[in-house]
Amino acid sequence: MKKKVAVLPGDGIGQEVMNGALDVLKAVGDWFGHEFEVVQGDIGGVAIDLHGNPLPSETLELCKKSDAVLLGAVGGPKWKDVPVHLRPEKGLLEIRKELGLFANLRPVSTFESLLSASPLKRNVVEDVDFVLVRELTGGLYFGKPSERRGKNKEVAVDTLQYERSEIERVVHKAFQLASKRRKKLTSVDKANVLETSRMWREIVDEVSGSYPDIEVEHLLVDVAAMKLVYQPKQFDVIVTENMFGDILSDEASMLTGSLGMLPSASLREDGFGLYEPVHGSAPDIAGQDKANPLAMILSVAMMLRHSFGLKEEAEMIELAVQEVLNAGYRTGDLWNLGNGPVVGTKAMSQFVVERLEAD
Ligand code: NAI
Ligand code: MG
Repeated sequence: MKKKVAVLPGDGIGQEVMNGALDVLKAVGDWFGHEFEVVQGDIGGVAIDLHGNPLPSETLELCKKSDAVLLGAVGGPKWKDVPVHLRPEKGLLEIRKELGLFANLRPVSTFESLLSASPLKRNVVEDVDFVLVRELTGGLYFGKPSERRGKNKEVAVDTLQYERSEIERVVHKAFQLASKRRKKLTSVDKANVLETSRMWREIVDEVSGSYPDIEVEHLLVDVAAMKLVYQPKQFDVIVTENMFGDILSDEASMLTGSLGMLPSASLREDGFGLYEPVHGSAPDIAGQDKANPLAMILSVAMMLRHSFGLKEEAEMIELAVQEVLNAGYRTGDLWNLGNGPVVGTKAMSQFVVERLEAD
């Protein structure tokens, strides 16, 4: 198979974790005889520095001409004083919107050898395996107006708005995913307070008519936050709006032990996708070879599975990650686990590549 992949490392640890992920992609390609052409582009702070824009048109064009996109992370203290419309994070919001990536899949499953890394008890986190589906191109992060008002700008306004079609498409995606899994869908909202949530709930109930074999549960977001740490095993697929999904997925990452373990896929209807770790640019550890590359590496596996239909290749990467963890290797974020040595970003990535080459 021949595919073109747009690679946007971004800022902070983005470049560091991307290097390892590209080595992994190459190793898998070589093993199975696929040709993955990798073309790099700029996004975020680095793009502001080089092009004066967090999402230069060249980058967007590159993504549109590619078969999939890999993204590291954007942002950092260097750009904290630039105008809001030029923030690195704006590049991220725009690329999602421009490419129409409305469904963000964030799988959360615990690794046996990392169970003691979780701040929660072993019996709570073992066998946790769910996917959080976050709506990604609507809601509070995109609603207009979003501004300061008043003589002294003493009023701040953001707008939470959803169109029916935006909710329907992501809910369908979540039902389809649940059909291939354990056939349970939990929809998370705040229907006791928010009008958007009441419409969300109505639509979930309507759409559920097309998926009679899926069990549907509605949870208020506050209860969902509680159940994520109390009974995470009960979830199979969770679907929720943009901001609730953002918050709940960081919470859920701690079930696995570290934000550095969570990959994600942002998908369009036709299967085109952007793949990135859930974490950000981690300025506190950037440039120190300390970042955990596994979330980025697992994002490559998601790309192979969801955009290219390469299930066996994806599983090979996931297995290699599992084996490296079983062997006891840990990056600093997982320092309190296991007896193995603490290793850096490069070494951790290299161990995964070696596992792949050894197969
Ligand atoms: P963050 O996710 O970058 O870091 C939070 C904490 O987790 C930090 O202590 C960091 O060291 C640690 N961490 C994150 N990823 C790690 C990894 N792979 N290995 C080891 N430790 C890891 O979130 P934070 O600090 O709130 O944001 C930093 C910058 O990143 C901000 O500019 C923010 O806007 C941006 N950001 C970008 C995202 C993206 O590009 N998708 C997502 C979230 C934040
Ligand atoms: Mg977040």
